[in-house]
Amino acid sequence: MSCVESVMAITERQKQMVMDSFKKVEPISEVAADIFYTKLFHYDPSLKTLFKSDMKSQGKKLMAALKLAVNTLNNLDALVPVLQKMAIKHVEYGVKVEDYTPVGNALINTLEEGLGAEFTPELKAAWVDTYKVMANVMRQAAYPNFKPDTFKNSKRYHH
Ligand code: HEM
Repeated sequence: MSCVESVMAITERQKQMVMDSFKKVEPISEVAADIFYTKLFHYDPSLKTLFKSDMKSQGKKLMAALKLAVNTLNNLDALVPVLQKMAIKHVEYGVKVEDYTPVGNALINTLEEGLGAEFTPELKAAWVDTYKVMANVMRQAAYPNFKPDTFKNSKRYHH
């Protein structure tokens, strides 16, 4: 699947749901960032050493980048190059292709905790698809051997 095809895999309804729900997370973004990193470092404690700056400012950057990405879902021509550049910077931070899996799980499970009953199965599927698209665009840009259809993460994580 090419970048553009995989981006097209999100429906208009899903985009709208993701954008609307992110607005509800924004007011609690500091707490959400805390929950996110606690989960991430529980799933894979080895990732801690990659983060050199303080977690509060890191959390802010993460939420700001997610906000930009979510708000740009309607303008993919602009979003794809931003994600590609970001992914290449992440290689310099020491991020490996498999690390997108625990990050995705931490993100989805943080939203689940933050939004409670509002995080319906349909909304969850919309976020999973959105993250997959973003992670696929990023991994394709940063890891030459990465193929979205055949990638299998063989690393094991804590639950
Ligand atoms: C949708 C996916 C992601 C988004 C939107 C995102 C966003 C960001 C942003 C905005 C920064 C600040 C610097 C920059 O702009 O490059 C950053 C840094 C960083 N990210 Fe990500 N990231 C993502 C995925 C990941 C993944 C999968 C990992 C794997 C562990 C990761 C680990 C890091 C690290 C280690 C840094 C540098 C921290 C430091 O300098 O202390 N990110 N990320």
